Amino acid sequence: MFRFCSSTWLLLVLFGGAQRGAAANCSDAFRSGSDDFVLDAKDAVERGAALLATHNVSVNKDCETFCCRDPRCNLALLEPRDAKGTADTRTCVLFDCVHKKRFVCRFVNQDGYHSYMRESMFQRYLQAPGKLSPPIANAGCDVVIRPGEIVTLNGTESVALHAAHIVDYRWSLQSGDPTLKMEKTDLQDQVRLSNLHPGSYVLKLSVKDSNGQSGDDEVTVLVLSSELSSCECSWEMLAIDD
Ligand SMILES: *[C@@H]1O[C@H](CO)[C@@H](O)[C@H](O)[C@H]1NC(C)=O
Ligand SMILES: *[C@@H]1O[C@H](CO)[C@@H](O)[C@H](O)[C@H]1NC(C)=O
Ligand SMILES: *[C@@H]1O[C@H](CO)[C@@H](O)[C@H](O)[C@H]1NC(C)=O
Repeated sequence: MFRFCSSTWLLLVLFGGAQRGAAANCSDAFRSGSDDFVLDAKDAVERGAALLATHNVSVNKDCETFCCRDPRCNLALLEPRDAKGTADTRTCVLFDCVHKKRFVCRFVNQDGYHSYMRESMFQRYLQAPGKLSPPIANAGCDVVIRPGEIVTLNGTESVALHAAHIVDYRWSLQSGDPTLKMEKTDLQDQVRLSNLHPGSYVLKLSVKDSNGQSGDDEVTVLVLSSELSSCECSWEMLAIDD
């Protein structure tokens, strides 16, 4: 079985509560992002974000302080510790994520990163006033399998906002052979698929949070024909384009 991930998530989801006055020697409030999400810097810069400066920091919080002291900085990205463990410091990169009055940074899931965002920017660009953002459904990666294989999909990476939690996960078939068999597992976010025939299936995950808001996402399951799956060709060539 092969999985192909290409999803990116908008950043606003990932930032928790404000920490007022948290940065030493800088009184502006910052929000701390969830761990393991990294700014897609190339994409951000292409969309107009500016890379302002790079610093080496030995204390994580200093990354926030550097951003705080630079009035242009509204997002600081702390890179993972050097894998060899030789350096005592981590690289801190400062960004201006606002271009033409729009927030242009996107984040992707990657281990070891941490980020900080200026509260005033969050309020201004990322929080629609008086409106609760819906949860972000994540149906996982696209899957390529051989005929006869069984697939379990999960929605475990879905996130609810505003301190809500996800109360319901619902999977439905959007396209593909309707004789597909879908079964619940012991985990409420999962579905087990069997009786899969060669061809392509699209499944939709709908999640509902404790504020009654809902969001959805789709995933594609590609079942190879027996000829294709017996050939020795490179599986990567079969990657689903989306
Ligand atoms: C605050 O920053 C200034 C200059 O950037 C520095 O001179 C001062 O010592 C700092 N104070 C603290 C408490 O870190
Ligand atoms: C950070 O440290 C690395 C070596 O660990 C060095 O090559 C780099 O120039 C430093 N960057 C800054 C901005 O000081
Ligand atoms: C959920 O699915 C993803 C692929 O979409 C997989 O990498 C991950 O291990 C699965 N997690 C669980 C708990 O099954």
